[in-house]
Amino acid sequence: MQNDRHIVNLALIGFMGTGKTSVGRLAAEQLNFEFLDTDELIQERTGRTIPDIFANEGESAFRALEQQLVRELAARTNTLIATGGGLPTNPDNLASLKRHALVVCLWASADKIWERVSHQGNRPLLNDPDPQAKIKELLAIRDPFYKQADVLVNTDLRTMREVAHQVAHQYRYARPVPG
Ligand code: S3P
Repeated sequence: MQNDRHIVNLALIGFMGTGKTSVGRLAAEQLNFEFLDTDELIQERTGRTIPDIFANEGESAFRALEQQLVRELAARTNTLIATGGGLPTNPDNLASLKRHALVVCLWASADKIWERVSHQGNRPLLNDPDPQAKIKELLAIRDPFYKQADVLVNTDLRTMREVAHQVAHQYRYARPVPG
């Protein structure tokens, strides 16, 4: 798979609350890339919120929308793609992204994730009697997928601006300027 990579985009993967959207917007500015967020695009296209899609059609319908979108992303260039936290758990999605994007995973500890998401109510998977245990459980399941990223960036001790700087740097480093 390494040989058929033509890296012209940057994809951010990682768990909910690792800052993919905030970091992505900032890093896109630095790289002069277009910014695209898979969750936002799905909501725009369907005219529905993610909690609504989960509640009415179920998680599998949401995953099908994600997969369809990932296929379309292969046609893009100079785009920073922030992905939903569960998107790379489908190996086809990860393989597809890797063909055209440098894949950077934003990592955070379970405690930090909880600190960031506990005041937000828009994550259907965390509608659980014990959301902190759910975060740990999902992190353990998803760890092998997140670890397939080209680069892993720890966000626990850095501001979003610092993380964005790191991410943009990683892209420039992976794609040396010709000449
Ligand atoms: C999900 C993460 C969410 C969103 C949906 C499912 C997940 O995106 O795609 O609620 O499975 O982890 P964020 O990671 O942007 O919160």
